[in-house]
Amino acid sequence: MRIGLAGVGRIGAFHASTLAGLDAVEEVVVADLDAGLAAQVAAEQGLTAAPDIEALLASGIDAFVITTATTAHAALLRQALGAGIPTFCEKPVAATLDETISLTELAESSDTPVHIGFQRRFDSGYRRAKAAVEAGELGTVHAIRALTHDQEPPHAAYIPTSGGIFRDCSVHDFDIVRFVTGREIDTVYATGENKGADFFAAAGDVDTGAAILTLDDGTLVTATSTRYSGGGHDVRMELMGSVANIAVGLDDSLALRSAEEGVAFPAGPAHQSFMQRFMAAYRAELTAFCDVAAGRIPSPCTIRDALQAFRVAEACELSRAQRRLVSMFEIPDAPALTTTTKATA
Ligand SMILES: NC(=O)c1ccc[n+]([C@@H]2O[C@H](COP(=O)([O-])OP(=O)(O)OC[C@H]3O[C@@H](n4cnc5c(N)ncnc54)[C@H](O)[C@@H]3O)[C@@H](O)[C@H]2O)c1
Repeated sequence: MRIGLAGVGRIGAFHASTLAGLDAVEEVVVADLDAGLAAQVAAEQGLTAAPDIEALLASGIDAFVITTATTAHAALLRQALGAGIPTFCEKPVAATLDETISLTELAESSDTPVHIGFQRRFDSGYRRAKAAVEAGELGTVHAIRALTHDQEPPHAAYIPTSGGIFRDCSVHDFDIVRFVTGREIDTVYATGENKGADFFAAAGDVDTGAAILTLDDGTLVTATSTRYSGGGHDVRMELMGSVANIAVGLDDSLALRSAEEGVAFPAGPAHQSFMQRFMAAYRAELTAFCDVAAGRIPSPCTIRDALQAFRVAEACELSRAQRRLVSMFEIPDAPALTTTTKATA
């Protein structure tokens, strides 16, 4: 299979290298707005560079991977759907809710598969937690703590195009809460603060955010995110049930030190980046995408899944701006897919 990849920044160069190592992939063709960067990454990794996206899409690729800055996702996904090329798109699908809804409708009226990059769905810990919930091992789940704490901020230019901390970071927690519990989010209360670099406030963003979510079965979830977790990259989920509790990410690489005397756990070293923390999950996710592109499996993370996580992030931004509880009914959604919609599209 020949795979085209657009955007060879932090995650794009990493995904290109992972894809090149997969048995199903014969060739990876890369392009970037910065053609020199694409040529450099291709040379370093033994890939093929295309001069621009048009040349990439016209080069006879079997599947397409979008890892550009968020603001470029929507236009590229439209192009790929227009050309009927199975596409993996990094989260979020688009920079705005309107665009995400419009793309959801477009993708759902098309036969071309779209897989969105929420890699935690392929992480063994989150999958184990989901299985525990489904098997009733925890009893009734009352409280969940979800967190995405980056060790250090991304480069300053990333922030204005990121969509803000809820759409960029916590959106992973919103998706995985839905995945693990099988529940939808009913209400949101969110806040955020800046104590770090000035470029967050300059972009209207915060460097640390916190949200309280109420699920449709009454489970309470706290979701925190920060760009400043000096102890290491810390991504976890804890589920507290009437029978048992379970934690994702509670291993020797946990980015915490115990305050208790004589406690040596965790042995360390802590994870330093999302690439390190989720290396196996990214590989499993891209392996699954090859199966999606070959028509062997349906998309394991649909554009509608991504829309639902994005709507929660949108509710968080509204709550933060207006300092109030926001009901998910206030946030626009795509019309439910009907067989008639698809058949007549
Ligand atoms: N799933 C995850 O864990 C994860 C982690 C990091 C980033 N991401 C997502 O991946 C995307 C990229 O993030 P990043 O950290 O790699 O950003 P980055 O800024 O490091 O890289 C983005 C690249 O896209 C290129 N680009 C921008 N517009 C383009 C266009 N129109 N055509 C071609 N190339 C274009 C830029 O030149 C740059 O090389 C973002 O949407 C982000 O949300 C996901």
